[in-house]
Amino acid sequence: MTARLAILASGRGSNLQAILDAIAAGTLDASVVGVFSDKPEAQALQRVPEALRWARTPKSCGGRDAFDAALAEAIEAVRPDWVVCVGYMRILGAAFVQRFAGRLLNIHPSLLPKYKGLHTHQRALEAGDAEHGASVHFVTAELDGGPVIAQARVPVRPGDDAETLAARVLAVEHPLLLQVLRLAAAGRLAERDGRVFVDAQPVFTPLPLESAPA
Ligand code: GRF
Repeated sequence: MTARLAILASGRGSNLQAILDAIAAGTLDASVVGVFSDKPEAQALQRVPEALRWARTPKSCGGRDAFDAALAEAIEAVRPDWVVCVGYMRILGAAFVQRFAGRLLNIHPSLLPKYKGLHTHQRALEAGDAEHGASVHFVTAELDGGPVIAQARVPVRPGDDAETLAARVLAVEHPLLLQVLRLAAAGRLAERDGRVFVDAQPVFTPLPLESAPA
């Protein structure tokens, strides 16, 4: 059965585009049933037909809790199998996370548990790391702290700045996210008691990216 994906995005939406392209190419058995944003002007929204767009701000909802509740209702209404955060820049409240526990995913541009939160590329450079990357994880109430499913690594090169490094990471984010979504869509991915399972087997170390981007 084709998996129903609800996407949360605040910005550009290149990860969403990678999902849409993979669906169109027949390499991901899924359909995007809604794109949800806290930024009405987000480019991500423009990537899907208007009927699939939902955008509100906490201000327009009368506060953060009301926003979270409205968002959760709108997501429930599209009956998603998976809720996928791709560049969603707002912290999800505990009640929201609880409601979608076990089917809520996020892509984060660092090799978690390193560099939770913002400015990950700059922080990796400042630390002098030789390697950086991206992680896809289940979302829990702890920001960027949920169990990691898969990771992609890239080298940090001499002369890199945050922008060049971000671009190198983004190139692996897209295939990494698709790799995880294929497992999710096929019903092969689960989370229990803070642990990741693939094909009912526990995953002790994050899965590596299977194929480097072309
Ligand atoms: C990505 O780097 C993602 O990992 C991070 O925000 C960025 C979103 O990029 N959470 P895009 O909007 O998918 O182009």
